[in-house]
Amino acid sequence: MKRLLVVLTVLLFGLSQANQLEIFTWWAGDEGPAIEALIDMYEAKYPEVTVVKADVVGGAGVVARAVLKTRMLGGSPPDTFQIHAGRSLIDTWVVAGRMEDLTWLYQEEGWLEAFPPGLIDMISTEEGIWSVPVNIHRSNVMWYVPANLERWGVSVPTTWDEFLAVCPTLQAQGVTPLVVGESWTVQHLWESVALAVLGADNYAKLWTGELPFTDAQAVAVWELFDQILACTNPDAAGLAWQHATDRLVDGAAAFNIMGDWAAGYMVTTLGLEPGVGFGWAASPGTEGSFMQLSDSFGLPIGAPNRENVINWLRLIGSREGQDTFNPLKGSISPRLDSDLTKYNAYLQSAAEDFRTNRLVPSLVHGAAARAAFASEFATVMGIFLDTRDPQFAANAAQAVAFQTGLGR
Ligand code: GAL
Repeated sequence: MKRLLVVLTVLLFGLSQANQLEIFTWWAGDEGPAIEALIDMYEAKYPEVTVVKADVVGGAGVVARAVLKTRMLGGSPPDTFQIHAGRSLIDTWVVAGRMEDLTWLYQEEGWLEAFPPGLIDMISTEEGIWSVPVNIHRSNVMWYVPANLERWGVSVPTTWDEFLAVCPTLQAQGVTPLVVGESWTVQHLWESVALAVLGADNYAKLWTGELPFTDAQAVAVWELFDQILACTNPDAAGLAWQHATDRLVDGAAAFNIMGDWAAGYMVTTLGLEPGVGFGWAASPGTEGSFMQLSDSFGLPIGAPNRENVINWLRLIGSREGQDTFNPLKGSISPRLDSDLTKYNAYLQSAAEDFRTNRLVPSLVHGAAARAAFASEFATVMGIFLDTRDPQFAANAAQAVAFQTGLGR
């Protein structure tokens, strides 16, 4: 009897394993609706598969990436996981030989023609193509509420100097000029400031090691950053990015620099209308540049339910899948045949900018720099926040660049 029970348990366990699809992601809670819509589509198509959404809360995947590492190194990979296109994917899992090459799937699905070549490059090495992008997000966006700005008598700054000029006006009215949150959101602000100070060419040279962080121009980024931080809220460390967006919407703060998942949150979760409930502009001094990042999913070697993952990847790479996911997420589809009529006014403007602007990669969201550098940048930021010394931060950044082999 006991033996029978054991056999039954093993059988049942085996069966349930075979019919699962475990999706590892940081899109939890109010970041969830877009991926949940994709999961609904998947379940309708493959009713025999039980989808398990394994989510780890925490903006920008700061926590999820650490948990993923313990699972991967512990030999229990999820079936598929969210990973930023670019260096985060390549340096972490591809060089370690942990992913399956998906070139064959790209050929089968016609994705080599459907996706922009620049994006395919970000997820490729000489040996293969390693994930499927589900979106394009923009990092360098300034958000605000038009009616509030009018009430406070300020207009949208197009340069950081203009912003610094309106900062006292806002503070005098008890308004936080620029709201920031936990550490990664401060780093997120920094990358937009760096792009503004350096321009697209020199910004790119930071990540190839051609422009040292100790160069006077790069030190100037920290100098300006220091002035900007003087116009932010003192309780940043305790705020998630959504809380920072809430401050904007509630009228406690005037501006926020955040990726366009903030638009997803304001539209999908808060029910605001783009252009009315909130407005947007390129982060000051970055008009004409689109700082991009992309969320993608891959197929780890040893995924327990490989076939189910392949069907998931087919769905998230499809036109229908992407045009369902992205309007809810606050991102655009990188597919060249995306149906823009399904997207709101903000996203249509982002799609236009993506097509016409200079594309530059985000540091914080895994695209620009060696993964080891990107994660150590949090320490550099910590040093700056403690010392507020631009030269000291620049030296620390250069030391980390050297240590982590930035540019190699
Ligand atoms: C980014 C990610 C976005 C969004 C954001 C906030 O790194 O690419 O899709 O989830 O973090 O968590």
